[in-house]
Amino acid sequence: MVQVLFVCLGNICRSPMAEGAFRHLVAEAGLGNIVSADSAGTGPWHVGEPPDKRGQATAARHGINIGHQRARQIAADDFTAFDYVLAMDSDNLQTLLRAAPREHQDRVTLLLNFGSADKGGDVPDPYYGGPKGFEDVFVLVHGAVRGLLRHIQQNDI
Ligand code: 4NP
Repeated sequence: MVQVLFVCLGNICRSPMAEGAFRHLVAEAGLGNIVSADSAGTGPWHVGEPPDKRGQATAARHGINIGHQRARQIAADDFTAFDYVLAMDSDNLQTLLRAAPREHQDRVTLLLNFGSADKGGDVPDPYYGGPKGFEDVFVLVHGAVRGLLRHIQQNDI
């Protein structure tokens, strides 16, 4: 199994959309038995909550249901369980690198390193903005998870 964890701050906006978009591509590619995905937040505030309604609506418009997801906080054993621990922005990347054991630092990187748009950049936090922010985030993460799946197909399976 190749296991991928998407990580943002609250685990209610960006990483749930990334997880949903990635799972959808994995299923389309018939790789559901080989590649798995989850998401988490670096912060504790929204643990147990479903994704933000605006994110659920955005994903649904793209044919993807993320309503079953529930927020959780990153845990120490995530760094051993997951092959890819992908931060949505550089703040969360720094938090993850501080928490990851030395031998697994290389599992931690930015999601947008796998996209062609804004390589190495941040997925902007849409929480305090309007619905357009969620659509922009969806398009950005969708491009990156496409690149991620291609990378996994070429390197891991
Ligand atoms: P996310 O967005 O990190 O994309 O889930 C946020 C959601 C909530 C908060 C911050 C970011 N918050 O501070 O409550």
